[in-house]
Amino acid sequence: MKATIAVSGKGGAGKTTISAIIMRELIGRSPQAVLGVDADPNACLAMTLGVNVEGSISDLREKARSQDPSNAGIDRLTSFEYGLEQVLTEAKGFDLVTMGHPEGRSCYCAANNLLRKYLDKLALQYSFVVMDNEAGMEHLSRRTTNDIDLLCIVADPGPIGEITVKRISDLVKTLETRVNKVGVIWNRAEDVTELDGIVNLGAVPFDEQLRQVSMQGKSVFEVDKDSPAISAVREILNQNLDLE
Ligand SMILES: Nc1ncnc2c1ncn2[C@@H]1O[C@H](COP(=O)(O)OP(=O)(O)O)[C@@H](O)[C@H]1O
Ligand SMILES: [Mg+2]
Repeated sequence: MKATIAVSGKGGAGKTTISAIIMRELIGRSPQAVLGVDADPNACLAMTLGVNVEGSISDLREKARSQDPSNAGIDRLTSFEYGLEQVLTEAKGFDLVTMGHPEGRSCYCAANNLLRKYLDKLALQYSFVVMDNEAGMEHLSRRTTNDIDLLCIVADPGPIGEITVKRISDLVKTLETRVNKVGVIWNRAEDVTELDGIVNLGAVPFDEQLRQVSMQGKSVFEVDKDSPAISAVREILNQNLDLE
């Protein structure tokens, strides 16, 4: 099987935490490593997974832009491709790529096209790709041309969470990227909130051990495998992905 899972939501909702737990749960479900894509400019996925990153895709783009434009062609491409290998962090059971800042309008387009092609090709080598997105989703279509199988909107229960859920689900309809299934993960919640026209994926309870681990700057791998939050994410994946 093959699945690309994207995680979105308001800042602080728990996107990075849930992305990391999803990755942890998917490791070992296929022979290949799981690919994590940190697409939030405020990149924290590496830390939540307990790894260091060498650099980001936007560092590479900057480098390509600052190079002498008269030196176009093979040298520039070769050093760019070498750089791409450096930004892919390989860890136990997963690989991670950090996007950094989204491209501006004045960017070096050849580099961007190459990056998108590289990322799409890279994603094809994995059974599971998990993308931790920025709070908005405006850049999702520019990030990838691959389809998304499951888009998880992470939200806290309450009026602010509910508004965010509606806003993001409207935004998803305008994306160029094809999204197969969209649903809400209610975080730090004992139960889901029913909203008109919105699919619920499930609820992840507040997990004291998870909070402590995060406060100590440790990774999600330090949390017991049957802790409330980890068990809840496992259940959500079992229900919503065809994992056989
Ligand atoms: N279910 C949960 N139980 C306890 N703490 C949580 C839970 N979900 C998230 N947190 C904590 O909330 C904080 C913000 O989560 P984070 O994943 O960084 O949010 P986001 O990526 O959406 O900005 C982190 O310290 C994280 O450990
Ligand atoms: Mg985050």
